[in-house]
Amino acid sequence: MRDKSEKAKFVLQVFESIAKDYDRMNTLLSFYQHKRWRKFAMKKMAVKPGDTAIDVCCGTGDWTISLANASQTGRVVGLDFSDNMLQVAERKLSEKGLRQQVELVRGDAMQLPFPDNSFDHATIGFALRNVPDVVQVLKEMKRVVKPGGQVVSLELSKPTWPPFRALYYFYFERILPWLGKLFANRYEQYRWLPESLIHFPDYEELARIMREEVGLDEVEVYPLTGGITALHVGRKPANER
Ligand SMILES: C[S@@+](CC[C@H](N)C(=O)[O-])C[C@H]1O[C@@H](n2cnc3c(N)ncnc32)[C@H](O)[C@@H]1O
Repeated sequence: MRDKSEKAKFVLQVFESIAKDYDRMNTLLSFYQHKRWRKFAMKKMAVKPGDTAIDVCCGTGDWTISLANASQTGRVVGLDFSDNMLQVAERKLSEKGLRQQVELVRGDAMQLPFPDNSFDHATIGFALRNVPDVVQVLKEMKRVVKPGGQVVSLELSKPTWPPFRALYYFYFERILPWLGKLFANRYEQYRWLPESLIHFPDYEELARIMREEVGLDEVEVYPLTGGITALHVGRKPANER
């Protein structure tokens, strides 16, 4: 088990090295499901034109792009600590004509460089597993959203039905790292995926953390594809500044 700063260094090195293959591998390893999960998240969030948003740990920017498209004119920020992931995001945003609307920031999810109450929505996609302290990052997301604003996580989770869980863990632990080796020539980096999930709370525990330790209201949980992934949506209390 790595300590917090070792974990952050290791995770940074993983994403710096896989950035150029990240999008292709995401589609391959999730059997295209990640696009469906992302669409579902956007539907539940119901972002309105003019809304503002920060996509924490934005990586190559898939969720950032969806937020910018939905908000149309609102300020959207994508934040990540990996330069290489941000470079891919920048290229994709330019190709889609969204570079003016979206601000990309190199920064740490543990200390967001924004004042309190800045955004209507804060999202984190497939990244809570990777941060050194889940509660601190969620508290930071809550701090930077306005009262009543949304804090949203889309993240891998642990299937609950035992036969499916066994099959999934077999794929995840035994097959997936070899697919990483075969298609991206990276084994160790893809070993990190199952390792990061072992120490991560299941979706019910994450909902409890959001309610009780982070202090979010109206927390809703949506397990997806048998619990492989889960969407969590919570709100900053309307009377909290
Ligand atoms: C699995 S990728 C997810 C990227 C993107 N959100 C998506 O949905 O595809 C995880 C991202 O989190 C970033 N990350 C991990 N820890 C971070 C931290 N402490 N601060 C900022 N970014 C971090 C990594 O650089 C990487 O881009």
